[in-house]
Amino acid sequence: MIKFNKENQSFYLETNNTSYIMYVNEHGHLGHVYYGSKVEELNNIEDFLPTYQFENGTSVSYDESSKGYMLNYTLLESSTYGKGDYRTPLLHVELPDGSRTVDFIYQSHEIIENLHFDKMPQARKTETLCITLKDTVHELYLNMYYTVYETENIIIRNTKLINKMEGSIIIDKALSMQLDMLNKDYQLLKLNGAWIRERNISIHDLSKGIFKIDSKQGNSSNTSNPMFILKDKNTSEQSGDCYGVTLIYSGNFEANIEINSHNFLRSNIGINSFDFRYTLESNDEFITPECVLTFSNQGLSALSENFHSLINEHIIPLNFKGKERPILVNNWEATYFDFNQKKLLAIAKKAKQLGIELFCLDDGWFSRRNDDFSSLGDWYYNKKKLPSGVEGISKKINKLGLDFGIWVEPEMVNKESDLYKEHPTWAIEIPGRTPALGRNQMILDLTNQEVRDYLIETMSTVFSSGNISYVKWDMNRNISDVFSQTLPLHKQKAFHHLFILGLYEILEELTSRFPHILFESCASGGNRFDLGMAYYMPQTWTSDDTDSYERMLIQEGTSMAYPLSMISNHVSGDRSHQALRHTPLETRFNVASFGVLGYELDLSKLHKFDIEAIKNQIAFYKEHRNLLQFGTLKRLTSIRETNHTIWQVTNKEKTECLILYFQDKALVNPAFESIKIDGLQEGTYKITNRTQYMNIRVTGDLVNHVLPVKLKVNGTALNMIANRYLMKSEDFSKTMTSSQLRNMNLLLFHTFTGTGQNEKTMILPDYGSRIFHIKKIEIGD
Ligand code: DGJ
Repeated sequence: MIKFNKENQSFYLETNNTSYIMYVNEHGHLGHVYYGSKVEELNNIEDFLPTYQFENGTSVSYDESSKGYMLNYTLLESSTYGKGDYRTPLLHVELPDGSRTVDFIYQSHEIIENLHFDKMPQARKTETLCITLKDTVHELYLNMYYTVYETENIIIRNTKLINKMEGSIIIDKALSMQLDMLNKDYQLLKLNGAWIRERNISIHDLSKGIFKIDSKQGNSSNTSNPMFILKDKNTSEQSGDCYGVTLIYSGNFEANIEINSHNFLRSNIGINSFDFRYTLESNDEFITPECVLTFSNQGLSALSENFHSLINEHIIPLNFKGKERPILVNNWEATYFDFNQKKLLAIAKKAKQLGIELFCLDDGWFSRRNDDFSSLGDWYYNKKKLPSGVEGISKKINKLGLDFGIWVEPEMVNKESDLYKEHPTWAIEIPGRTPALGRNQMILDLTNQEVRDYLIETMSTVFSSGNISYVKWDMNRNISDVFSQTLPLHKQKAFHHLFILGLYEILEELTSRFPHILFESCASGGNRFDLGMAYYMPQTWTSDDTDSYERMLIQEGTSMAYPLSMISNHVSGDRSHQALRHTPLETRFNVASFGVLGYELDLSKLHKFDIEAIKNQIAFYKEHRNLLQFGTLKRLTSIRETNHTIWQVTNKEKTECLILYFQDKALVNPAFESIKIDGLQEGTYKITNRTQYMNIRVTGDLVNHVLPVKLKVNGTALNMIANRYLMKSEDFSKTMTSSQLRNMNLLLFHTFTGTGQNEKTMILPDYGSRIFHIKKIEIGD
């Protein structure tokens, strides 16, 4: 709901659980009043504003007639530099006369229906409040947009700068939104990492000064994700106040969290102003990416739920909204570059027997691509590896009963390629300077229209070259040697932004030409895990790290802002290719199943044990796919703080949920564990565990106490049995009411303590895990 109160010139935005209040103050500035838990509309705004009566020492008063009005100590919706506000501004521009002071005041407002910004990823909208501000001197306008999503408790904000002056202006900084409030000892939660350890959660106390999160890599980055959360010190997963911010953008970004001398907390986010300068011509406009803002007084899990619902409902492409995603097998970790059609078909055949639905042919299928030194750019099939081409293999895969998908990395080029030889100026490099390489490759200059047109046509040819229903779009290096050989001088410093807009143009065209293709975004795993990409590609390859222990942490962090339907996870082989760690096959599945499931190992070489276990996993996933991809996730505990990670995913009707119970280290003779299960409709519930299988080797030297026959430890017979024998996990079955689950909690069986084992004992090694299924039953069921 959006309301304007003429009397006190205030805007009142309301969602189911939150209120956002701003007003036009006596000087015409758009002041911020409140954002948080729902309150009534205010007719006593002044009572809530920190206001000085007199000027404050060295500070600058905005207006001689009211000396206590200092912009530095005012809560504002938009800010510029030059009139006494010394915090990081929303906008910083240079006017034709060389001056940098602009001062925006309220001019008008309107409600716009179905607002859509061309050539930008964005949320689908119904009603948007647009408040137009104008510079006090010049014909320069700033539109402030606010779209309210009531059920999702979200407010989407961005801005548009319109230059109606005679000359052009230079934009040095144009962020998407700022949020001013008084600091209440907030903590900052952010997601940082690196390749194969993306989006780990880190929480910091804030103090006076500026805390900056950013990316200068040319992508939204695996080092800092474009999101942050401000939370009360005591806010936990299930209770307390928190504010969440993300950005619908895939390029360089910055977010500043700043506390000034008088405890005014300003946070903002948008395009990174580092290495950015945009010339805005007369009668032209500049649109900033949309920022997603949310608040919860129910803790972090509820905050995430707000983000998740918005993304699933209003950002993911409509064609894929709520649509269940296929279980795929990808040949990368199975074969790397070393494959031929026979090998691929052997994997695909086994995949079909296991219940897998889609085969993705990864890197190495084209030109002379037998390692990562050559061929990017030359998108025609390798005759040795694929004798009948993409068309041939896609037909063969289809014939086996699987859908077919393909890997591409269109933004890249190797020096060793026909494309580079033909069009050396299409790559990003500075004439006269040797370009720095990443994974031996260079990046194509997407600011160049010719390059974009070429990529659209080339990819269209690839995507039409067989029955392709899925595309993995990769991007494996950060940008360096930033320069375009075709952009004019005054546009060079807008390169990063123009590159991303160029990418969006390509994606816009390809996704509309191929609406049936499910695109999965990838950038060496999660180097571009953001909502800009999600607008075109419903799911993202979360990380090249498929070790389930590390994945717990990565998926936990990722889920802070992004829904399970975006988080693509694969069960890989033993040992993990990244951590060289052994984790049980069932744990690899249990962790990967919270999101979009795939397998990435040589299925043609599995033992009987693995085959049966995986068949069972896939059947379980299919039965609960909707819940695992679109259910409401609650993070109950984390191995960051305890020995267990516990997640709960619940259906919309609140009549069914799944619980992931993951153990870090096996504890010897531990205390009993119980889990508080909340959020279910009143009623009676049946609780069972997913049937899992253990490898007999888990019992080590004790094997002869477990098996009915005596065997030599490490002997051939034991090895044969271990690869075939499916040792069933305990049999967990209880019936409880929702109030018992909530108040008395779900008591688990005790774990193996060395003195015996039966069907009510959990054998839970290091990194052991279980999934519990809880479903409402009618009494008598
Ligand atoms: C990086 C991706 O994240 C991997 O899954 C794989 O596709 C490789 N690139 C292929 O080069």
